Amino acid sequence: MNNEKKCNIKILKNGPYIVTGNVPLSEKIIVSKGKINELKDGRKLPQAEEYALCRCGKSKNAPFCDGSHEKVGFNGVEKASRETFEDRAELLEGPDLDLLDDNRCAFARFCHREDGKVWELTENSNNPKYREEAIIAASECPAGRLVAYDKTGKAIEPEYEPSIEILQDPEKEASGPIFVKGNIPIESSEGYTYEIRNRVTLCRCGKTRNRPFCDATHISMNYTDN
Ligand code: FES
Repeated sequence: MNNEKKCNIKILKNGPYIVTGNVPLSEKIIVSKGKINELKDGRKLPQAEEYALCRCGKSKNAPFCDGSHEKVGFNGVEKASRETFEDRAELLEGPDLDLLDDNRCAFARFCHREDGKVWELTENSNNPKYREEAIIAASECPAGRLVAYDKTGKAIEPEYEPSIEILQDPEKEASGPIFVKGNIPIESSEGYTYEIRNRVTLCRCGKTRNRPFCDATHISMNYTDN
């Protein structure tokens, strides 16, 4: 099933993200196991055809908007570059795998694996084990900062149905971003549709310097949604 066409996220000026198209919503908790991280199921969240997710970080009913953005005078001006990922990213060429890295980090730490981080694993990708680990490390990055490419230039991406996961990061004593999966279009408050991607993280603490995308500020400010 491919819902790409009818799913949508519309950013309201100085307000929430309006999600339409029955996009499944869940909460996931980042947990570490040795040097790697995994996502565990969190609370069950209500499902709806349309819902509004808080973008200002002040809702008392997070992850949903409760109108607080108006009371706090949230400034939601979007600053993110509109260049494509491939234009923004830097290329790291490994022997059997390449990596593009656009430095848009949500600090979710999925790039760390038992045998090293995605960059060194890519550099050692002539070893099939490290190559496999590098692919996992890149593809599990929720921010979409990291994409592994095979030597024919084809991006290696996990298959995702359109869905949204609200991340929690108890180890960092923070609530994480909104993980948007499966090529859901994101439309700016000015009507511009950002590059459609399989993985991307949207800010919900209200403090990113790269609005609407997460830049890991939720960790330095210890944003928690409860
Ligand atoms: S965006 Fe509405 S309460 Fe945060």
